[in-house]
Amino acid sequence: MFNILSITNIALLALVPAVTASPLQSTTLQPRQATLPPTCSDFYSPDSGHVCIIRPTNCVANYTVTPGENCGTVVSRFANFTATDLYAWNPEIRQDCTGLRAYVPVCIGVPGYTFNGPYVGGNRLTAGRTPVPIQPGIVDNCGAFQYTDSKGQKPFAELLSTNHITQQQWNAWNWPKSNVDDNLAVFAGYWSCIALKQQ
Ligand SMILES: *[C@@H]1O[C@H](CO)[C@@H](O)[C@H](O)[C@H]1NC(C)=O
Ligand SMILES: *[C@@H]1O[C@H](CO)[C@@H](O)[C@H](O)[C@H]1NC(C)=O
Repeated sequence: MFNILSITNIALLALVPAVTASPLQSTTLQPRQATLPPTCSDFYSPDSGHVCIIRPTNCVANYTVTPGENCGTVVSRFANFTATDLYAWNPEIRQDCTGLRAYVPVCIGVPGYTFNGPYVGGNRLTAGRTPVPIQPGIVDNCGAFQYTDSKGQKPFAELLSTNHITQQQWNAWNWPKSNVDDNLAVFAGYWSCIALKQQ
């Protein structure tokens, strides 16, 4: 006999993850980003997944972000591009990756791309192309960045000593709104600022 109750239960179970992370609860609308094409509507709601997205026209593969993901999990899931590339292909995710949204697809591949390996804790980059993800709120005139991996390598004290900077300097560049004398944290899996641009 057709058992409607158990069918309903299965359907409910299957829905639980989607319900707990429902993208439809938010009503927050944000003004359109300045860089979006004119075909985008004036307002979008990132939390609802109704974002105006920009993709390379030669994008060959998409991935739909699942709830709870961040740039680091997307990058390690595929292990064939860096977060900096992910940002280049999907500028709406922003350099601090706060624009990555569950249920919204991101481009994960373009032809002719070469992957030079994942970031390693202690990697350094001088500006030219700002790496991703950077700690939110970093000063605009940062000239060099260092990567701290998801396990916290290289340790913060070593980051300071190898770059010949004080914690106050690092604080001022990475947490410009905070007190420079505070004991501020380096984000695991993020790039932080280790020097300002040369004048
Ligand atoms: C990726 O997604 C974008 C936006 O939804 C779409 O325009 C494009 O055709 C998709 N590309 C592929 C390869 O599926
Ligand atoms: C990464 O791997 C995925 C899954 O195999 C593939 O669809 C995508 O095109 C690849 N991206 C790059 C940049 O190689």
